Amino acid sequence: MIERIEQLRAEAQTAIAGASSSEALEELRVKYLGRKAELPQLLRGVAQLEAAERGAVGKAANEARQTLEKQLEAKGQELAIKELDEQLRTDRVDVTLPGDPLPAVGRLHLITRTRREIEDVFIGLGFNVAEGPEVETAYYNFDALNTPVTHPSRLMSDTFYVKPAPDIFDPQTVLLRVHTSPVQIRSMELQPPPIYIVIPGRTYRPDNDATHSPQFHQIEGLAVDTDVTLSDLKGTLLAFARAIFGADRQIRLRPHFFPFTEPSVEVDVSCFNCTDGITADGRRCPLCKGTSWIEILGAGMVDPNVLAHVSANGYDPERVQGFAFGMGIERIAMLKHGVPDLRLMYDNDIRFLEQF
Ligand code: DAH
Repeated sequence: MIERIEQLRAEAQTAIAGASSSEALEELRVKYLGRKAELPQLLRGVAQLEAAERGAVGKAANEARQTLEKQLEAKGQELAIKELDEQLRTDRVDVTLPGDPLPAVGRLHLITRTRREIEDVFIGLGFNVAEGPEVETAYYNFDALNTPVTHPSRLMSDTFYVKPAPDIFDPQTVLLRVHTSPVQIRSMELQPPPIYIVIPGRTYRPDNDATHSPQFHQIEGLAVDTDVTLSDLKGTLLAFARAIFGADRQIRLRPHFFPFTEPSVEVDVSCFNCTDGITADGRRCPLCKGTSWIEILGAGMVDPNVLAHVSANGYDPERVQGFAFGMGIERIAMLKHGVPDLRLMYDNDIRFLEQF
């Protein structure tokens, strides 16, 4: 019996030493020391042996079991370390892979995107970007822009006054700017001619309907140099219209009035939604209302009376002249993307925002 025990021990020891994985080792533990294995069975039978045999067999079997247990444990640790090393070597985490599921990524708001798109066009034409304050004095917002106190846009019903008292017609009265045009004056005060700038920013008027919001955005343009003509304005705006609305666009200039330009024009772009006012499916075009033209902005040659306010900064109306224009960013975005109601841009409904 002792011989058999030795045999089992030797066999198990060889097998354990050669085990190549924790799994294989566990199988060996079950095979040699598990409940139904031969060695434990033998141990359990020791009590039934004759007294003379009992001591020696019991001792041999016990020793064999202890030896195997120790060996199993040592081998187990060795294999665990080896397997962990192996895993660390092969299981590399590729941190450049996208998360799963893809996390929702934010995007620029349609107004921001449109502003940047417009800025890019003018930067490409050699313009710089300038900005100015949204809370403005009547001087910059009206007076320096040749807008007399009798002009209706100066009324309480058309302008948000921050400090109306004592007199909304005082040039130092503070208000929310109604357009980006005051930054024309501020920029010319800071920089002598030539000047080529576009001025994006928020503007405010007490309007609220599907195409007007109390707070909206404009981009202003100003170019003052020697020998600037209305043709330069037209060429610049044609390049702009084609960059934004498509290479086939035409523009037309209609006579208009603005206090700060003379002559003044309103500029239309040829409709990109129809042919001669009729859509592809034979309906009257809703975008241009069947006219083939869509109004996009106001413009004109800078009135010498405006330049006179900055003549001390080098803008002598006898020596330099320029053009200016102003457009609503929301309007450009609505036309370009077919947005039916301007207020959608301020509702922050993700279903709307995600479309752009
Ligand atoms: N400031 C005008 C407005 O808010 C837009 C405008 C028209 C700006 C003609 C200009 C311009 O610079 O020349 O309606």
